[in-house]
Amino acid sequence: MRAIILAGGTGSRLYPLTSIVCKQLQAVYDKPMIYYPLTVLVAGGIREFCIISTPDDLPRFERLLGNGSQWGLSFVYREQARPEGIAQAFLIAEDFIAGENCVLMLGDNIFFGGDAFPRALKDFKSGAMIFAYHVQNPGNYGVVSFDQFGRANSLEEKPTHPRSSYAVPGIYIYDSQVVGIAKSLNHSPRGELEVTDVNRVYLERDELLVRRLSRGVAWLDAGTSSALQDASAYVQTIERRQGVKIGCPEEAALVRGFLKLEQFDALLARMPACEYRDYLASVAAEVRRLAYATPKNF
Ligand code: DAU
Repeated sequence: MRAIILAGGTGSRLYPLTSIVCKQLQAVYDKPMIYYPLTVLVAGGIREFCIISTPDDLPRFERLLGNGSQWGLSFVYREQARPEGIAQAFLIAEDFIAGENCVLMLGDNIFFGGDAFPRALKDFKSGAMIFAYHVQNPGNYGVVSFDQFGRANSLEEKPTHPRSSYAVPGIYIYDSQVVGIAKSLNHSPRGELEVTDVNRVYLERDELLVRRLSRGVAWLDAGTSSALQDASAYVQTIERRQGVKIGCPEEAALVRGFLKLEQFDALLARMPACEYRDYLASVAAEVRRLAYATPKNF
């Protein structure tokens, strides 16, 4: 399966932070934001990525991530000239998707805990799979409601009167129908091609699976300055307490076997002396000690 990370948009809610650097390159505690969704996907076994961003920011992502070979991955980059909606990603990345299944992840979605996504990516066969997460403020998100048997029965984008407390997080898995569906969409009243409209087509075709994320999963928003600060504090708390880092793509690539230990060592040798390198060195030492990569949560 291939992955698209959508990392454009205006970032207006984070102004003036975003007047120089876009939201998905801002720091969430000790790493650029995009490292977090990227790590979730690498931990789920994905190696091929298409990063979509604005013409201004795309070169910055390329400078940060390169072509991915240093991590045993592959990155290609595509411009979104104007932010005309999340579903536009499928039109921009049509050649990358190349008729295969794909996963779309928003570059500002941060998850921690559980193994819901690796399992979902492994289980996925056809149709669409999305997730549901209980939140206090569903009206800020896409909202899914369920019937008495637990089956999804409605999807609405930022409803004024949400029918449930279940928001749809920014990670979506689709089969190859998604490109045709995206092409058939009309712009919404706010002028965007809505991912919620894509999901509604799958729902109407009875090909949508919605998995509820358990309480053990943390899903953090980083869309406002306060939310960004909260996300940083959360990551710092977990990292300090547990002595493990959240959102290190290098670690995920090593554990998934995309990088050999010798390649990992070479990667560390190119890093400046810093806490991040020390942490990765401790990961490598543990992998060597155990002589195999233990499954971990990221
Ligand atoms: O975070 C999950 C939510 O993301 C979902 O529950 C909603 O259904 C979905 O519409 C979306 O809502 P947001 O209000 O968060 O969407 P926003 O416009 O902020 O865009 C989300 C991310 O995608 C953000 O990092 C910017 C990026 N983006 C967005 C648009 C519309 C792009 O790169 N290009 C775009 O055209």
